[in-house]
Amino acid sequence: MAELFLVADDLHKSFNDHKAVNGVTFTIARNEIFGLLGPNGAGKTTTIRMLSTVLDPDAGEVKISGFSTREHPNEARALIGVCPQELALYEDLSAFDNLMFFGRLVGMNSREAKAQTMSNLAMMGLETRAKDKVSKFSGGMKRRVNLGIALMGQPKLLFLDEPTVGIDPQSRNKIFETIQGLRQKGMTVLYTTHYMEEADRLCDRIAIMDGGKIVAMDTSRALKANIGDPDKTTLEDVFLKLTGRSLRD
Ligand SMILES: Nc1ncnc2c1ncn2[C@@H]1O[C@H](COP(=O)(O)OP(=O)(O)O)[C@@H](O)[C@H]1O
Ligand SMILES: [Mg+2]
Repeated sequence: MAELFLVADDLHKSFNDHKAVNGVTFTIARNEIFGLLGPNGAGKTTTIRMLSTVLDPDAGEVKISGFSTREHPNEARALIGVCPQELALYEDLSAFDNLMFFGRLVGMNSREAKAQTMSNLAMMGLETRAKDKVSKFSGGMKRRVNLGIALMGQPKLLFLDEPTVGIDPQSRNKIFETIQGLRQKGMTVLYTTHYMEEADRLCDRIAIMDGGKIVAMDTSRALKANIGDPDKTTLEDVFLKLTGRSLRD
């Protein structure tokens, strides 16, 4: 049995009277790419926020490499990187300074922060634009800066919340290749998207969420086999079958 790197056990979170996450349980093996799919409002971001110690669950437990996020939040945090859905960047700073700032914030000395900044900017194909202000960047470039920031501190587990929404194919491809390369080097990844073909290509296993619950969880092929011939069924067919065709906000 593969080593479980993340355990989410019966997570619950309500906002006012609305149950955003309603009993979510899953595990991610070390070095796995795990996909969390679901329509808008399904509870994906709220789940990621609880897993990454940004939000306290109302009930349930998260363990990262054995560290309970409730009892040992600092040990858990030291292992994770978060690429949030809403860009978290300083528009007035250069790409270089954005990464440096974050490296210093998480406790690196300037030499270490600089080394990681240079290496992450190169990984994201931004080395020639390092000194330009982020406010001049395209959406795809900003997304790549966001990922470069998430990788500061060389996390073992990376949370990616819809990292490819509304960006150019080149940036999307770069983000894809980067994630695959990081996995080759041993990273564990939780990937949230509503692009089905992306999840199909990238993820070892997929959980489909709707209304705060996981409604199915398996390999893409097994999910497809559940509803028809897996060679003729798409993940989008599975998704629509499970989550319905009614439109979401
Ligand atoms: N801070 C918040 N305050 C109130 N409601 C929230 C908050 N965050 C999320 N919600 C609600 O919780 C539900 C799940 O949201 P979210 O986790 O962002 O879903 P997803 O990321 O799958 O689109 C939605 O109905 C959303 O409006
Ligand atoms: Mg979201």
